[in-house]
Amino acid sequence: DSAHALPYDLSGIRVLVSAGGTREPLDPVRYLGNRSSGKQGYALARAAAQRGAQVTLVAGATDEPGDPAGVDIVRIETATQLAVEMNKRAADADVVIMAAAVADFRPLSVADAKIKKGADGPAPIELDTNPDILRGLVRSREAGDIPASTVIVGFAAETGDERGGVLDHGREKLRRKGTDLLVVNAVGEGKAFGTADNTGWLLSSTGTETALPLASKTLMASQILDEIATLVPDRDG
Ligand code: CTP
Ligand code: CA
Repeated sequence: DSAHALPYDLSGIRVLVSAGGTREPLDPVRYLGNRSSGKQGYALARAAAQRGAQVTLVAGATDEPGDPAGVDIVRIETATQLAVEMNKRAADADVVIMAAAVADFRPLSVADAKIKKGADGPAPIELDTNPDILRGLVRSREAGDIPASTVIVGFAAETGDERGGVLDHGREKLRRKGTDLLVVNAVGEGKAFGTADNTGWLLSSTGTETALPLASKTLMASQILDEIATLVPDRDG
């Protein structure tokens, strides 16, 4: 019924979304990972496809039981692999959304064989810094390798601390990343990770700040896409 019909306003728009968590191997059987469920990125991919977009979803580890209908899916495991896939595809997208939970660090070396307990107890794990994929995409756009019209969207899961509240951290991250939009989720107290509902703000580089009330990730996806739709140049003229 028409009251529940989704707008068909992203027809022909090419959307590239990353979702889920990266896994950084330690040895052939172990990795450093995170608790990302992939739900928000999958909801965005699904909703964008329903609104007529041509969607590519680059997915890491998720709790999702299946692939969203009508979406091209690319599987990755590590942040390095995710960087390769996003960098390869971003220039052919109208909208790039980094909803993936990217490990900031990876083990400096990956053991060829399973690490044994041994007699000396645990050895420390040395870490190296992963590339900041989102920052790299914004830099590529500045350099002209990605069209200037490409809309770039980031996510941030924040808690307040002694330096400021969730919104303060979000504003600072928007400036630092240089994206067009930043979806800021308030986390802690059981919010966001692995749960069906989100709450937060949608911050834009033009200074608009929209509160996102506690809502399902599906509803939040449609609110985020509403904002994105206002930023995408009209492809049909
Ligand atoms: N991100 C990325 N590459 C990374 C880390 C993060 O592309 N190596 C992206 C995430 O997908 C997200 C955004 O950057 O869209 C913000 O991630 P977040 O972890 O909040 O930002 P960081 O810059 O890593 O800052 P923090 O120190 O708060 O973790
Ligand atoms: Ca981080």
